[in-house]
Amino acid sequence: MTYAPIDVAATPYGLAGKTVLVTGASSGIGRAVAVRCAEAGARVIATARDAARLDAAVAAMPGAGHRAIAADLVDAKALRELADGCGALDGVVHSAGVRGLSPIRMASEKFLRQVMQINYEAPVLLTQRLLYKNALQDRCSIIFMSSIAAHIGTVGVGIYSGSKAALIGTMRCLALEIAKRGMRANCLCPGLVETNLITEDPGWFEGQKSRYPLGIGAPDDIAFACLYLLSDASRKLTGVEFSMDGGVTF
Ligand SMILES: NC(=O)c1ccc[n+]([C@@H]2O[C@H](COP(=O)([O-])OP(=O)(O)OC[C@H]3O[C@@H](n4cnc5c(N)ncnc54)[C@H](OP(=O)(O)O)[C@@H]3O)[C@@H](O)[C@H]2O)c1
Repeated sequence: MTYAPIDVAATPYGLAGKTVLVTGASSGIGRAVAVRCAEAGARVIATARDAARLDAAVAAMPGAGHRAIAADLVDAKALRELADGCGALDGVVHSAGVRGLSPIRMASEKFLRQVMQINYEAPVLLTQRLLYKNALQDRCSIIFMSSIAAHIGTVGVGIYSGSKAALIGTMRCLALEIAKRGMRANCLCPGLVETNLITEDPGWFEGQKSRYPLGIGAPDDIAFACLYLLSDASRKLTGVEFSMDGGVTF
């Protein structure tokens, strides 16, 4: 399902005057979040590795002042430069991630580290650096992209599930640490969302559809939840993991 552009900038859910950093903004959920944030009035800093796809995402954003910063978030120097070059932020959406499938018996140490590096270490280290540099404004909202995989067992998804569950544990502690400045941290836990991440195997993907009473998600479904969590309308909502699974049953 696709949605027509909306103008929420003037509503209590709007993001006018806010600057939001979105990782993984070159593709899928992150791209939808970045574009919808711009539509809601935010100035967006979009980051991912692929500069051309990032530029295309920024070109799709209404409004002015958006920036694309290409960075590999598993590169410590690039992560640090990104954090130090953002300026003051009112919101951060950590969407960059990889899926990574392997039964535990076949999972190598290298594979484990690769998945944890981008899915868990990068968002935590980026948040750490932004806090350390005082780049996060009072009342800043931080969103980590977890997954229903953090809650349910699926064959071959053990390492990915661990990376997403780890985000929830860290988010809960962070939420307490930053509350004194009115800052908030939450996790979104999407079920399947139709992006490049999951459509590589069309047969498997088609088979999953019948499990979702409300249908498989679109990137915009997650983007709209992010708009709420980034806006002041959700100012008393922190430490929460928000499931967006379309009523899926296993
Ligand atoms: N799709 C789903 O069903 C689903 C369900 C639950 C949770 N999620 C989570 O949602 C998030 C977004 O997934 P998606 O479905 O939108 O996947 P996607 O379309 O593949 O997007 C992944 C994004 O992460 C970026 N990325 C990957 N490695 C990176 C790195 N080392 N440094 C910087 N950026 C990197 C990619 O950009 P570049 O390639 O340009 O670097 C891309 O923009 C992920 O965290 C995923 O785990 C997805």
